[in-house]
Amino acid sequence: MENSYISYKNYMDSKFLDKYGPWAIVTGASSGIGVEYARQLAAKGLHLVLVARRKQLLDQLATELSEQYKINCKTVEADLSADGFQQDILDATQDLEVGLLVNNAGMNCEGHFYRGSLERNLQMIQLNVKAPFVLAYEYGKQFAGRGKGGIIFTSSISAFNAHPYLSHYAATKAYILSLAESMNYEFKDKNVDVIALCPGMTKSEMTKGMKDGPMLMEAAPVVETVLDNIGKEAYVVPGILNKTQVFLNSRILNRSGATSLSGAILKKMLPGANKKKK
Ligand SMILES: NC(=O)c1ccc[n+]([C@@H]2O[C@H](COP(=O)([O-])OP(=O)(O)OC[C@H]3O[C@@H](n4cnc5c(N)ncnc54)[C@H](OP(=O)(O)O)[C@@H]3O)[C@@H](O)[C@H]2O)c1
Repeated sequence: MENSYISYKNYMDSKFLDKYGPWAIVTGASSGIGVEYARQLAAKGLHLVLVARRKQLLDQLATELSEQYKINCKTVEADLSADGFQQDILDATQDLEVGLLVNNAGMNCEGHFYRGSLERNLQMIQLNVKAPFVLAYEYGKQFAGRGKGGIIFTSSISAFNAHPYLSHYAATKAYILSLAESMNYEFKDKNVDVIALCPGMTKSEMTKGMKDGPMLMEAAPVVETVLDNIGKEAYVVPGILNKTQVFLNSRILNRSGATSLSGAILKKMLPGANKKKK
């Protein structure tokens, strides 16, 4: 795998390592934004527990990063949408001092609300909502007991207002943003930092096939933004265009105006929103 972008800020960061090391868990580390989290954390000197379903991709990344950055990597094959998924991760980390949890794995469901499959939508609740909550609960308790650590959630800019044609996905991300902001407040006196990353469109498997353009960010600066801001902010929106969009939708327009604007844009953009009713 190509090491595309590691900025000088990411090399061996002893302050970051002291606060959030020695081990970090990254869920959804087999592709997209998760691979970039793994790379940038490895460059900072953290040992990694990489979690996803595609073990072969995790193992390849683990080999590459452990050779390149002289860190240790463990891989855990887990379906985070399955009940009880957390046991394998807890078992794999029971002898490790985990200081950072990156709740990144996620999926989307787009198109008309009533045309998507119920099964896929329920799987999305398990993956986007239940799994990050369960891991934050388990590791948040450990970090609070130890008096240090960090939790990063991957939300989305769609969390800030309603998004017709992406309605259920945006609702899962709104849950995550709300949870992260409240946890950020509650965990402050335990010296545990909590932050939500709220990306707009970012190059990954999720956006494969989307037209390249200024709205589609590379994963590297997206991840760098959150690693620079953990301990400072409760949430962060990477990129000036995404920041402008959030400002417009949450500060300039009222809620129904923001819903209408997002609905009109997504109706044009998403193939699933345009299918004629059968
Ligand atoms: N890309 C964007 O435009 C964008 C924008 C805003 C927010 N986000 C959020 O960013 C996060 C990362 O997504 P991405 O864009 O990097 O997409 P991606 O390339 O599709 O990556 C998704 C990751 O989640 C893992 N995953 C999916 N289902 C899983 C399951 N049931 N159990 C365990 N792992 C599972 C995948 O691994 P396996 O398939 O190997 O299990 C993969 O590693 C998600 O939470 C997404 O909602 C993305």
